[in-house]
Amino acid sequence: MSLFITFEGIEGAGKTSRLQALAEHLRNQNVPVTVTHEPGGCPLADGIRALLLAPDQPPMADRAELLLYLAARAQHVREVVRPALERGDVVLCDRFHDSTLAYQGYARGLDIVLIRQINQFAAGIAPDATFLLDLPAEEGLRRSHRRDQLKGLSSDRLEREHLDFHRKVRDGFLKLASGEKERFHIFDATRPPKDLDREIAQRFAVLASSGMAPGR
Ligand code: TMP
Repeated sequence: MSLFITFEGIEGAGKTSRLQALAEHLRNQNVPVTVTHEPGGCPLADGIRALLLAPDQPPMADRAELLLYLAARAQHVREVVRPALERGDVVLCDRFHDSTLAYQGYARGLDIVLIRQINQFAAGIAPDATFLLDLPAEEGLRRSHRRDQLKGLSSDRLEREHLDFHRKVRDGFLKLASGEKERFHIFDATRPPKDLDREIAQRFAVLASSGMAPGR
């Protein structure tokens, strides 16, 4: 049974850890899983990611930024996501097109309808379900700075945006979720990780057993 599930949220929401926990849970049940992420997931897209996130990048035009994310997605979908779905895998993807709508659309102010159209051209595929890890922007940034400090990393280009930018991203995700209540599943990311992992696994089981019709 192929299923395409995306994890979304602001910086520091814990998407990556929650996604890894679900992947491990599924592998323990011998479910074939492909774990991937955006921007990145294959060599060309990884190269674009490096360009997009380098903290010392000269100022990037919003439209150039949008098109780089979408170029990375076009390659990633063709090289990784589609083949995995065709094999029958559950694909768990850390960020996908809702990030483009939230960051480049709601936060940078680019046209939402246009982004949807270009995304359709670049990816031509939509997630069956999206797990949104929601928390206040202040808390997310606090967590992501602490994580970077622990790892000795400096913040990337988008993490360096102002708090107001991250608030717009969060509001953007919530608007997207309220417009597509069936696809989106919102989780309170301030809750303890163990509780979240249990809740996410339960939600996945319900989706999988409902034999949800892939919206591809
Ligand atoms: P990550 O650190 O969660 O891997 O995400 C990289 C950054 O890229 C993060 O700040 C969100 C941002 N992003 C966009 O602005 N637009 C997009 O389409 C995607 C996929 C990510």
